[in-house]
Amino acid sequence: MNKLFKPYLQNGGTYKGGKTLSELDTDKKIYKLSSNEHPFGPSPKAVAAVKKAANNFHFYPDRNGARLQTALADFYQNEIPAEQFFTGNSGSEILDFIIRGFLGEGLEAIICNPAFGIYNMFSGWQGATVKDVPLLAPNFRLDVPGILNAITDQTRVIFLTSPNNPTGSYIPRAGLEALLDQVPEHLVVVLDEVYYKFADASDYVTAMEYVKKGHQIIAVNSFSKIYGLAALRIGYGYSTPEIAEYLLMYNRPFLLNQLSIEAGIAALSDEDFVQETVAMIQSERLKIYAGLDALGVSYWKSQGNFILIKPSIPSKVFEAAMLNEGIMVRPVDNFGAPGCVRVTIGTPEANAAYLEALKKVISIVVN
Ligand SMILES: Cc1ncc(COP(=O)(O)O)c(C=O)c1O
Repeated sequence: MNKLFKPYLQNGGTYKGGKTLSELDTDKKIYKLSSNEHPFGPSPKAVAAVKKAANNFHFYPDRNGARLQTALADFYQNEIPAEQFFTGNSGSEILDFIIRGFLGEGLEAIICNPAFGIYNMFSGWQGATVKDVPLLAPNFRLDVPGILNAITDQTRVIFLTSPNNPTGSYIPRAGLEALLDQVPEHLVVVLDEVYYKFADASDYVTAMEYVKKGHQIIAVNSFSKIYGLAALRIGYGYSTPEIAEYLLMYNRPFLLNQLSIEAGIAALSDEDFVQETVAMIQSERLKIYAGLDALGVSYWKSQGNFILIKPSIPSKVFEAAMLNEGIMVRPVDNFGAPGCVRVTIGTPEANAAYLEALKKVISIVVN
C-alpha cells in the first residue's frame, strides 16, 4: 500500500447502499421496498420550495444553516434554542461530524448489532476501534450491563438507534435511562432517531428530554424518511449547548446547498403530509403483520417504516425470488442480522403485492 495512505481508512470497509431502480435495468413494474424510502414521494411543500429556489441558482447559498436551525427550534416548540441544533448534508453526515469530533486512533466506539453499517464504517475510517455489544434475543433488547462492561477509558461514543434499523425494535424509556444514569462523563451517547415519527409505543422516547437535563447525548435525525427527501441529503442533530457548539465547527461556509435549506424549512411545516404518512405506515404495519402471520413467516414487530423477516431460505435466494415477482427487498446479513431481510412498508398497493409475492415464493420453496 502507498505509504501516503492512512492504513485505517481501509479498516471500515465500504457500505453498499441498496440498489436504485435504474441499476436493475428492467421495464417490469417493480415495487422498491429495499431502502426505507417514502411511499408517497417527497413532501409537496418541499417540492414547491425547491422549484421556487431554482430561479436563484446563480447566488451562493446561505452562509450557514442558521435559518434551518431556527426552523428546527420552532418545530420542536422551542424546547431548546436554535443554537443547540446543527445541520448537515444527511443524517449520515451528522454521524460523520460526530465521529470526526469524538473518535480517532486509540479511541473506541460501541455499537449494538444488528445496526446501521455507517457507525462501524465511519468510525473505522477515523482509526477508532469498534466494539460490538449485540442486541439481545429474542426481541433485540439493549444489553445495558453488556454496554457498561464494554466501556473503557478510551470509549468516546456509544451508538444507539431507536427505532432501530434493521430490526424495527426500540429502546424503551427505562432502558435508555438505565444507561444514561450509569455512563461515565468521558463519552457521548448518540441516539439515532431518524425513524422516530413512525414509533407509537407508549414508552418510546427521543433524546430531547435528556438533552434538556444536560446528559451528554446527541440526537441524529434526517429529512430522508418522514419527509421523503432522501435525494436532497438533509440531516440534523441536537445536543447540549456545549456539544452542539463543538460540532457546529464542522459547518464549513456554504455547507448546505440552497435547495436543501429551502426544502428542509418547508418540509418542517408540512404537517398534513407527516400526519397522513404516519397514519398510513402505522395502519399498514398492522395489516402486514396479519399477512405474515397468515403465511407463517417469522418476523419482528417494528416501530419503523420497515419490518424485519426471517425467510426459511437464504436471504440472497429470497431476494432474487422476490425480485422475480416484482418486489425489491433488502437482505441485511451485513447489518449483523444473518439470514434476515428488511422490507420497507410501502403504499397499500405495494404491500398487497409484497404479500402476494411472498405467498408465491414461499409455496415454491415448500413444493
Ligand atoms: C438508522 C439510520 N440512521 C441514519 C440514516 C441516514 O439517513 P440519511 O443519510 O439518508 O439522512 C439511515 C438511513 O437509512 C438509517 O437507517
